[in-house]
Amino acid sequence: MNIPTKEECYALLEKYKAPISIVDHVTAVAKVGRQLAEAFVAKGQDVNVEAVEAACLLHDVLKCVDFNNYNNFNEEEQAFYQDLIEKFGKGHPEAAEKMLTEEGYPEIGLIVRSHGLESIGEANGPISTAQKIVFYADKRAKYATIPLEKRFSEWKKKYSEKDDSRDTEYWAEKEKLTIALEEDLFEQLDISPGDLK
Ligand SMILES: [Fe+2]
Repeated sequence: MNIPTKEECYALLEKYKAPISIVDHVTAVAKVGRQLAEAFVAKGQDVNVEAVEAACLLHDVLKCVDFNNYNNFNEEEQAFYQDLIEKFGKGHPEAAEKMLTEEGYPEIGLIVRSHGLESIGEANGPISTAQKIVFYADKRAKYATIPLEKRFSEWKKKYSEKDDSRDTEYWAEKEKLTIALEEDLFEQLDISPGDLK
């Protein structure tokens, strides 16, 4: 498996012009992902810590294809993001998989592609342990490690203020499925959700 080093991950984030807020977010997610991967290794499970960490660092590398507007970016950046949309399409998890495959990291792309909240409970949701870890770590960290409940309540608040098609039922269903995923992960480990730093 070809795994980019941390330096190579940050170089890709720079190459694809991930904004600083995304870089801060993926750094926080990688911290959670690494702890979980190490906890699985401690239980003798075959989880690749470096691959999980790289997938966490790269999961939102193409978030730019899904931004609601591009008002905060200069013309050059807007044109760059537009090119990425034309090349890889919208839907940042799948776009990142395509890009990472092209960059020579297909296995990391495979881990990344199921991290979107919309995918859980669907055919394209997380299946492998590495996919589950990256999905879950993303739901436990914004810019620092927080409980699932807090991350969901922030999303619900943010999107209720916007004109967003996702209703209360959608959020309740996704939260329920994510809690079930948390239980699935932690019943295999000697640590609890509250132990993650
Ligand atoms: Fe994320």
